[in-house]
Amino acid sequence: MAGGLFHRVGEQDRPRIGLVIDGEEASALEGDTLLVALLTHGTAVRQSEFGDGGRAGFCLMAACQDCWVWTEDGARLRACSTTVQAGMRILTRDVPWPRS
Ligand code: FES
Repeated sequence: MAGGLFHRVGEQDRPRIGLVIDGEEASALEGDTLLVALLTHGTAVRQSEFGDGGRAGFCLMAACQDCWVWTEDGARLRACSTTVQAGMRILTRDVPWPRS
C-alpha cells in the first residue's frame, strides 16, 4: 500500500527499522508506536471484525481497544501503546476473532 494516513513532519533522523504488515515489507522509525508505523504505511490500523471498515484508533492512550492488531504468532497488541520492534510481523485483517 503506497502512502499512509499519517505523514511524518518531524523527528525524521531516528534509525529506520523494518517490519512486515499483512505480509508486506514496511518500515518505521525506532521509537515509533505500532499505530504510527501502521498509519504511515497505510490508511487504517486494522479492519473491523464487525465488517464496518477500517479503524484508525480512537483514544490513542490504550483505553478504547479500537487499535487491536495481531502478530503472526497470534499475540494481540494494542497498536497505540506498543513500541514497534524490528522484525515484527503484524496482521491487521483476516484474523479469526477472538484471538488471545
Ligand atoms: S487507540 Fe484506543 S486503545 Fe489504542
